[in-house]
Amino acid sequence: MQEKSKYLNANLDVEERVEDLLNQLTLDEKILLIRGRGFWTTNSIERLKIPEFGMTDGPLGVAHHSSHDGKRTRFPATIGLAATWNKKLAYDMGKAIGKEVRLTGRHQILGPGVNIIRSPFCGRNFEYLSEDPILSSDIGAELVNGIQSQNIASCIKHYITNNSETKRMSIDTVLDERTLYEVYVKNYKRIIEKSDPWGLMCCFNKIYGTYGAENKLVLREILRDQLGFTGHVVTDWGATRNTSGAAGCIKAGLSLEMPGKLLGKSRIASLFFKSVYTPKKVHKALSKGLITEEDIDYVVKPLLRTIIRVKLLDEETPIAPKVIDIPEHQDLAQKIAEESLVLLKNDNETLPINIDDIKKVAVLGPNAKKIFGKRLHGGSSAVVPPFFITPYDGIVNFIDDKAEMVENPEEADVVFLVLGLDNGGGIFSMFFSKKEADAEGRDRTIYRLPNEQERLLEETVKKNPNTVIILIVGSPLDLSPWFEKVPAVLNAWYPGMMGGNAIARCVFGDVNPSGKLPVTYPVKISDHPAHVSERRFPGDLEALKIYYDEGIYIGYRHFDKNQIEPFFPFGFGLSYTEFKLSDLKVDRNTVKDSGTFIVSIDVVNVGKIEGAEIIQIYISDDKCSVDRPPKELQAFEKVYLKPGESKTVSVTLNQSAFEFYSEKEHKFIAEAGTFTILVGTSSRHLPLSTKVDYVN
Ligand code: BGC
Repeated sequence: MQEKSKYLNANLDVEERVEDLLNQLTLDEKILLIRGRGFWTTNSIERLKIPEFGMTDGPLGVAHHSSHDGKRTRFPATIGLAATWNKKLAYDMGKAIGKEVRLTGRHQILGPGVNIIRSPFCGRNFEYLSEDPILSSDIGAELVNGIQSQNIASCIKHYITNNSETKRMSIDTVLDERTLYEVYVKNYKRIIEKSDPWGLMCCFNKIYGTYGAENKLVLREILRDQLGFTGHVVTDWGATRNTSGAAGCIKAGLSLEMPGKLLGKSRIASLFFKSVYTPKKVHKALSKGLITEEDIDYVVKPLLRTIIRVKLLDEETPIAPKVIDIPEHQDLAQKIAEESLVLLKNDNETLPINIDDIKKVAVLGPNAKKIFGKRLHGGSSAVVPPFFITPYDGIVNFIDDKAEMVENPEEADVVFLVLGLDNGGGIFSMFFSKKEADAEGRDRTIYRLPNEQERLLEETVKKNPNTVIILIVGSPLDLSPWFEKVPAVLNAWYPGMMGGNAIARCVFGDVNPSGKLPVTYPVKISDHPAHVSERRFPGDLEALKIYYDEGIYIGYRHFDKNQIEPFFPFGFGLSYTEFKLSDLKVDRNTVKDSGTFIVSIDVVNVGKIEGAEIIQIYISDDKCSVDRPPKELQAFEKVYLKPGESKTVSVTLNQSAFEFYSEKEHKFIAEAGTFTILVGTSSRHLPLSTKVDYVN
């Protein structure tokens, strides 16, 4: 009997299998593999028993348009996940998504979206995580770990400096080396260190004049050589379109071009998606001596590694069901939504409302009954769930027959006014409509609620001052025009298919809000570092350049340095209970070289109900040879406490907590000296501090 090839032997080590498979592939087969087939798969190679490798959009769940129009669990938008500051929930969400990807017969989810939130206007903020690289990478890495626990590849995206949507296919980002590393690369670096993602999607835009898909500096030198990325790089869909061609992309290390050869009805889309990895073009580049077969091996190898890691050669690919309706995943979606809620205002303990104290409730506003989660609604991340609980549904279900629902605010004992933005409209309105929305392909332009909503708010409050505002949004908004007029404001992000239940449980007190803002809310947009000038955002649209002039002073770093009071600081969020922090300790006075140190704090719940607090640890460099932000988040921990209960929170940090990127040495370094450790519950509420010395 003929012996089974090594690459087909599931008991062998991944690298051994990859080498064997690479040796067995002909040049033409390698070329076939690096260009996809249709929108969501690679080519199969029957001779070697390699089936199609299938991808599906994320990152809010398994998207409808890429899963045979299937209905899947719609999780809260990932900015909401970041607002939970809960790494375990990020892992669980990743795991549940990974499981649904597998059930769908796909092998990779095109997510998580981990780009740094640089401006409140970026249309895709709802799909990203935070303005801070530590929060973003800690949550991002756990999403990846959860996804990959199911033998499904993640695909962190969109690498790199794709922080806005305006002219995303042609704009060139201009930023200095320190900013590139200290903010943007650092985010990816930490995710790679903590979770070894099997896939990554390059961006559409240019960095230093070269498109992401053929940018050797970012894809090869930084990603592979410096960060040690082991997965494959896939294009954003169509991102090779304007590049110099096959040779440039292959030399840069781009493993897979998507979409691939378009067949049937979708052939019409070839007019837009121009392939550079066609066999003809790759052969031409080879014959001209622009690339060699070794260059092709360099790009195909990581793809083979992913194919083996996801068990494509070992397990049958399931046939996708039309609907995935898993109650545990829906419960998880609700739990994440509950922990993502950020209470922004709560005068005189307006919330929670005791249901026994009220007889009539009104749930009004344009987002009260709006169903999010329609095909391509908001862009590529559109997940269509088997059912959707709106805030109205959630509140109706919760109050059951204990109170009456009314339409007229004057009749109600309490009004819940559900405002916010849309998540983008369908595919056409997404690109062409001028209506403010959080959506792929365009950015917002107005830092306010739509006029008609502000009017509705004024009218409603006049009729009933006991009006609680619930915001369904994917990024910061200016609340100042009406903030003083209402007693309570709850920010719910886009809370997913179970969001209505989460909101209802929170406003009636079954859930104590514990979310904290993963982004700063400026008082006015021009206070924000990305909006000090137009060249910073949306950029110089004639020259097609966007200038990251704020440098390393992104988000709260800018507000701190320039002593600007934000409307809400990074890390802010209220609770129905109160916590006291005390006894900050560091286990040593001096940290040496690469040694670790432990920071611990006691936290007690001094209120009357159970709740959770997020302990935030920032570090400030007392003296440095270069300018540094006044403080930077280094770690955080969420702690759950019953009334009267106390716990000690401990986090272990290492030398990286003292580091900055040195443009002289072209690497992260820590300078010897004294550092201040600041601990508290938001970036502007840090009541505890202590000092530590670092020596190297
Ligand atoms: C988006 C990606 C998405 C891809 C496939 C692109 O337009 O930028 O995030 O994964 O399309 O749908």
